[in-house]
Amino acid sequence: MTPDFPVRRLRRLRRTPALRRLVAEARIGVDDLIAPLFVREGIEGPVPIPSMLGQSQHTIDSLVIEAKRLVSLGVPGLILFGVPTQKDATGTEAYSRDGIVQRALRALRTAVGDQLVLMADLCLDEYTDHGHCGVLGPGGEVLNDQTIELYGRIALAQAEAGADIVAPSGMMDGQVAAIRGALDGDGHHQVAILAYASKYASALYGPFRDAVDVTIAGGGDRRAYQQDPHNRREALLEITQDLAEGADMIMVKPAMTSLDVLSEARRIVDVPLAAYHVSGEYAMVQAAAAAGWIDGPSVALEQLVALKRAGADFILTYFAAAVAEQLGG
Ligand code: PBG
Repeated sequence: MTPDFPVRRLRRLRRTPALRRLVAEARIGVDDLIAPLFVREGIEGPVPIPSMLGQSQHTIDSLVIEAKRLVSLGVPGLILFGVPTQKDATGTEAYSRDGIVQRALRALRTAVGDQLVLMADLCLDEYTDHGHCGVLGPGGEVLNDQTIELYGRIALAQAEAGADIVAPSGMMDGQVAAIRGALDGDGHHQVAILAYASKYASALYGPFRDAVDVTIAGGGDRRAYQQDPHNRREALLEITQDLAEGADMIMVKPAMTSLDVLSEARRIVDVPLAAYHVSGEYAMVQAAAAAGWIDGPSVALEQLVALKRAGADFILTYFAAAVAEQLGG
């Protein structure tokens, strides 16, 4: 029965909670969390999002309250998504000075100063009447170069409103370079770019589309611009290209289905690396927990730790506030 080689007693270091803490390789803390928040125009009070238990579309007032709560929990930042009342073919509200996100950014800056990093998702889908992330050509295709020109305008509007970081999520080619050019051309050298660099076309964004009231026209999808989930090497190409274009930080998304990309990215990326634990990932945990089938807070923490273990520096997650509370932040 005794093996003829010495068996390493790995269990020795698992014996007590303090030992386990001492030898933990990956750690998750409040500083690793970014909270995605939704702000909607034309509502009187916060509107709960049914498919994202615990999350709401905020008014600017309720958004400010939530932001102050994040500050008190020690969460370092948030990423903002807007839901405008007016949508049109070119998503005008995304880059108008008084668009909902721009107004919200000003209110947040006034309320919390520099206590929170203010990030703004930079895209058109919430603002277009057809729900695509860019402007459409005659055949209904999303036009790359016309779209990135508009992304430059969104970046300027968000920078002027006080964003610390803009986060382009549209997956157009050359979007990071176009945005960097627009920002620098207008003196916004201090505004950083968090590139949604590896972003797959995923069914896990379903609840998010409820949250931002987006329906893609004609039952369409985003497969002509977001990545095909079959491809890993292509994800690394996207990352390399975004870095070359001037991205300050790189993001991988969705999170749990991109662990291979995340760990590979960790080897080639020296800038901060983020993972986005998306709406569908949140919804699955919340739904199973609500049914009493899993221990929601434990599963959430386990998933977020796995992202850290795979190499993420920080995580965008709808669990940010809850986990911060859990960690006693
Ligand atoms: C695009 C955008 C999306 C998400 C973040 N930015 C939706 C999409 O690509 O269809 C999804 C985030 C989530 O599911 O939590 N503006």
